[in-house]
Amino acid sequence: VSPPSSVKQLCDSGTLSSVHNHYASRDPGAPSDIDPTLEEQIPTIDFSMLTQGTPQERSLMVRQLGQACEEWGFFMVVNHGVPEALRGAVLDAAKDFFDMEEEKKAEYLGRHVLDPIRYGTSFNSTVEDVHYWRDYLKLFVHPEFHCPAKPPNLRDILCQYTTCTRALGIELLKGIWESLDLDESYMNKAFNLEACFQVFVANFYPPCPQPELAMGLPPHSDHGLLTILHQNAIDGLHVKHGNGWVYVKPLPNSFLVNTGDHMQIVTNGRYKSVLHRAMTNGESTRMSVVTVVAPSLDTVVEPVAQLVSSERPAMYRGIKYVEFLEYQQGNKLREKAVLELLR
Ligand code: SIN
Ligand code: FE2
Repeated sequence: VSPPSSVKQLCDSGTLSSVHNHYASRDPGAPSDIDPTLEEQIPTIDFSMLTQGTPQERSLMVRQLGQACEEWGFFMVVNHGVPEALRGAVLDAAKDFFDMEEEKKAEYLGRHVLDPIRYGTSFNSTVEDVHYWRDYLKLFVHPEFHCPAKPPNLRDILCQYTTCTRALGIELLKGIWESLDLDESYMNKAFNLEACFQVFVANFYPPCPQPELAMGLPPHSDHGLLTILHQNAIDGLHVKHGNGWVYVKPLPNSFLVNTGDHMQIVTNGRYKSVLHRAMTNGESTRMSVVTVVAPSLDTVVEPVAQLVSSERPAMYRGIKYVEFLEYQQGNKLREKAVLELLR
């Protein structure tokens, strides 16, 4: 299949009444796999209790955090301290990027999955046989900060936003290590979290004429330790829980956080990465901004010794983070395929 143009360009070029065959990733006749009873059970973490609570409140939150990671791999974070104005500004600035003329964005078209600035469509259109209804901008923002020069306000807003969300992620990680009785300074050193690798992704999902056929992103897990997501007012994220899927309706002002493949590797399978997918709809543009916090690129990641025993041998072999990333981003996006290779 030849590389598709951006879905935004497709939509802007006229009135679409159907999608091309190469977007048909869903079976329109399949019965719903959503379990509506699970929606209310999504765990919520009060971040302020973790950082400013009494020792009792903190240990309660640490327990809840551990439980959320163990049972769901997904939770909402409230009272996180990231200003609402900044959360609004980052969505606006990302929208301004996607609204630029295609020729201007083309300057950032990614050639290689390790390019620190990469604009594109679908997931990896060069290797896929089916495409997804999504345009994206992916940036490596830490330890080096990369950002397109246009639109002009993007750099400043992203710099602030990614600094805040990185701090949030690191603080959540501390709580997560504590929930497993792992020593914080040991973990920071082992995964070089000081120089942690952080990616920022803006996702743009325009209205789709056949949402029953196309998907925004197929079921997949994320590569990092934690992913922190926030979106505009349009829902569309589903997470897997048990045998069912859960439609996520985030609480006002909350972040959605999920555990990634490296959490599963590091914890030797105690905390698993969660499958999630992005759906499309026929009416409104959905946008999400995602930031992934991960070990530094040159770290060889393997299960921590404390969680390995003769009863529970290491489930995964060590791999350099950058190699995992290159493989995950360079192939078709398919469930937990990369993690399985390390077994
Ligand atoms: C992602 O999985 O990277 C994005 C999910 C979403 O847009 O909600
Ligand atoms: Fe994801």
